[in-house]
Amino acid sequence: MKKQIVVFASGTGSNFISIIEKINSKNLKAKVCLLVSNNSKCGAVNFAANHGINVFIYNSNRFPNDDNQNILVKKLNSYNLDLILLAGYMKKISQSLINRFKNKILNIHPSLLPLYGGKGFYGIKVHEAVFKNKDKQSGATVHFIDMDYDTGPILIQEKINLKSNETPTTIAKKVLKVEHKIYFKALELFCNDKIYWDNNKPLIKG
Ligand code: GRF
Repeated sequence: MKKQIVVFASGTGSNFISIIEKINSKNLKAKVCLLVSNNSKCGAVNFAANHGINVFIYNSNRFPNDDNQNILVKKLNSYNLDLILLAGYMKKISQSLINRFKNKILNIHPSLLPLYGGKGFYGIKVHEAVFKNKDKQSGATVHFIDMDYDTGPILIQEKINLKSNETPTTIAKKVLKVEHKIYFKALELFCNDKIYWDNNKPLIKG
């Protein structure tokens, strides 16, 4: 049985696109059954529309009174989904959605969390902070989400070394490559039932 995956994305969608391409090229037993986005004009939505993937546009213009994201939960309930992947999704996930899909929502973050996480640390802002601090390393983190920004239990982290002549843009480029690699790795682990929980910590079998 293929695992049913829903992806949430707001932007370019390179993580989303990379996941779709790798599911196909590596024959992973997974199916992206829905893309959720707040932004109907973003790259992720464009890609989904051109590749026959269902899209659900969810934002406060369409659903002005849905503070607890109940309409979104209802939509997700109509799929028999196994996992949600946040891939550059710029909106906060509500408590009711987190409760409904406990330990089933992953996020990718472009830093070595807990460094450079939390409100305000997104996109190039993360890499500007790494650059400003003259860090010798950066990387990416895949973690399950909880109620705060970027604080949920970490599943995979991978480091890269930075040279002295990096700029925020070169750091971003290198980190994005790592993101694509480890986000698919996380999905592979999930689809092969290699993730288990011990004391609220995700662990990897084998
Ligand atoms: C990535 O850096 C991701 O870690 C962050 O937002 C960015 C999204 O990039 N959360 P993309 O839309 O997947 O290209």
